[in-house]
Amino acid sequence: MYIDSVMNYTGSKFKLLEQILPEFDYTKPYFVDLFCGGGSVYTNVLDKYEKLIANDIIKDLVGIHKSLLESDRIIEETKSICPSKGQPELFGKLREDYNSNPTPAKLWALMLSSTNNMMRFNQKFKYNQTFGDRGWNQSTDKKVETFTSNIRQYKDKIRFKSLPFDQIEISSDKIMFYADPPYGRIKNEDGSIGKKQISEAGYNAFWKEDDDIKLYNYLKSIDEIGSSFMVSGVLYHDNKTSWMLDKLISEGYRYKELQFDYNKVSRKGDKVTTEVIIMNY
Ligand SMILES: C[S@@+](CC[C@H](N)C(=O)[O-])C[C@H]1O[C@@H](n2cnc3c(N)ncnc32)[C@H](O)[C@@H]1O
Repeated sequence: MYIDSVMNYTGSKFKLLEQILPEFDYTKPYFVDLFCGGGSVYTNVLDKYEKLIANDIIKDLVGIHKSLLESDRIIEETKSICPSKGQPELFGKLREDYNSNPTPAKLWALMLSSTNNMMRFNQKFKYNQTFGDRGWNQSTDKKVETFTSNIRQYKDKIRFKSLPFDQIEISSDKIMFYADPPYGRIKNEDGSIGKKQISEAGYNAFWKEDDDIKLYNYLKSIDEIGSSFMVSGVLYHDNKTSWMLDKLISEGYRYKELQFDYNKVSRKGDKVTTEVIIMNY
């Protein structure tokens, strides 16, 4: 049984863990979750590595993880400000308040009460998701209890960072890096990198135009120094191809297609999605 995130995070790898985790390189002592999001991945390998770094560019998101590791304070605070069913005005006020004076507890409360639990930021990095007529419930209590009792056992092993991924140092050949970036930019017909991302997500605003190329170079540096990487993502979606994943596969890196719950591919109307993991080991 895997430990679920406390935030139903957009793009969470929770449902794919049984296919992803057996493929990690456990010969390395250190682990880096470069794009930790809701934390489904790092929280499920805490017993497998000596030291772990969990990083994400969204500071308040990392703030939630950090606070949960330390104490119950953020739990009490979030519960006390989280809107419930039928409280759209409270949600509106909280969103305004978060956008002028952000804190981890406010972000968590917003995520729990947002449409489909999905966070969304606009191009100016302001939270703009709508009210989902939901809030903190019994299932949140259960998830929080399981999550905190797990991570707190490993308190001394975990370090949190909130940096653009390429500022995480590649310091040795002893690290297993897991990269689960936002949707990549598409490959143009001539093979060059396109401007558009392969699909939409609420954190796409944080993914800059040259980040795919930076990530490609970053993964190559990991390979050159002798550390290990796994990158996951959508290779094909709706007749579009991810430039970076396609390039890594064409260079001969080992890859596996992930099987969704029901089928090899997920279909929304006539849209076909293929998700892969690519490894340098
Ligand atoms: C696909 S999600 C990761 C989901 C995560 N693996 C999980 O299971 O919850 C991608 C994450 O990348 C973060 N991100 C976007 N741009 C980034 C950057 N330049 N550096 C680091 N993190 C970034 C987003 O905030 C988002 O949380």
